[in-house]
Amino acid sequence: MRTRVAIIGAGPAGLLLSHLLDAEGIESVVLETRTREYVEARIRAGILEQSTVDLLTEVGLGARLAAEGDRHRGIYLQWPHERHHIDFVELTGRAVTVYGQTEVQKDLGRAREAAGQQIVYGVSETALHDVGTERPFVTYTDNDGRPARLDAEVVVGCDGSFGPSRAAVPEAARQTWQRAYPYSWLGVLAEVAPSTDELIYAWHPDGFALHSMRSASISRFYLQVPADTDIAAWSDQRIWDALAARLGHGQDGWRLNPGPLLEKSVLPMRSFVQQPMRSGRLFLAGDAAHIVPPTGAKGLNLAVADVALLAPALAALLLKGDPGPAEAYSAAALRRVWRCTHFSWWMTTMLHTGEDPFDTQLQLSQLKWVTSSEAGAKGLAENYAGLPIGF
Ligand code: FAD
Ligand code: DHB
Repeated sequence: MRTRVAIIGAGPAGLLLSHLLDAEGIESVVLETRTREYVEARIRAGILEQSTVDLLTEVGLGARLAAEGDRHRGIYLQWPHERHHIDFVELTGRAVTVYGQTEVQKDLGRAREAAGQQIVYGVSETALHDVGTERPFVTYTDNDGRPARLDAEVVVGCDGSFGPSRAAVPEAARQTWQRAYPYSWLGVLAEVAPSTDELIYAWHPDGFALHSMRSASISRFYLQVPADTDIAAWSDQRIWDALAARLGHGQDGWRLNPGPLLEKSVLPMRSFVQQPMRSGRLFLAGDAAHIVPPTGAKGLNLAVADVALLAPALAALLLKGDPGPAEAYSAAALRRVWRCTHFSWWMTTMLHTGEDPFDTQLQLSQLKWVTSSEAGAKGLAENYAGLPIGF
């Protein structure tokens, strides 16, 4: 099979890139290891930055998002006996929207299906070849177990944190940075109306807790747990007790409403950046190039920002023979990547508790500053609500 752009991975980065390329008149084929059903059911992120919402709307993916997404002005930051609202709209003029990654994935899936996009699901043994030449190709085994080959002018690795693309950048040409954290998130989806109008990020001596939501009847919660946590050790009752304690049930009349848990999982946390995000005719986008801990709600938004830069760069390269924007892609994308890497680390280390009593005092001091100084609040708001595409 031959196409102009071979895209590895049908997550948000891969599908949105195929959508943006199609709008430029560039044909692509997407290869994906999982099934469409699996990809659309994966519960992950839930917060869209203003610029993500604007981009999805501009490219015709905003109808359900406008109808079902829930616009939030800001977030609550709290520690025992204190809860403060940070109003992003007042501070920066920008808001965020609660809309699950599952829904973004479904909207993309439907739009690509309607456009006749070729997406090959259920592939295995994906391997990249000759990416240093102008005739790169990808080999894989198809869903029926047959070996297959996809020839292209460009290969884009949108294959997330475990895909093969990032390792296809020659070792001598790549640099990586990473940070492991000694904790994970236990995430649960609950069939209960949210107990708050906007997200609550809670510092607590027992560990961080986050109250998020998906709709008027579905809540999403996260608890800081040790990195090696076995989910079997967390009964539903233990989870609700920990959420109630950390989120401050009973304080100042606030109540946490419990309900049936629909899903539970443990998410490891790490920071990772590989640069450059381009090597010859191979480009990386999204989690394939960078991973952030989820505390700043940046992973999905970064994936969208990458492909928003990459699509016009590939259009210039493939339609006009102009290599300039493609050559500038990596540096331009990494500017935002490092900003979000720092912000995600900063939010994470401000809110997750550890053993060191000195760190605890620094965290509380930082929380007090962020919630009492306009400069402090504005820094958080600007980063959380998101910088404009092209920052
Ligand atoms: P992905 O969504 O990971 O998509 C990559 C795709 O490539 C996948 O569909 C994968 O199956 C496919 N693939 C992998 N290998 C191959 C291969 N060899 N061949 C073909 N296809 C392949 N962010 C937040 O902001 N908040 C959260 O709460 C949050 N929770 C998360 C929970 C989990 C378990 C994970 C993994 C991520 C979470 N994230 C969260 C991060 C966010 O979901 C990601 O940043 C976002 O999905 C990135 O999109 P992507 O398209 O780059 O990668
Ligand atoms: C959600 C996930 C996040 O990582 C975050 O910071 C806020 C909300 C969520 O899944 O709703």
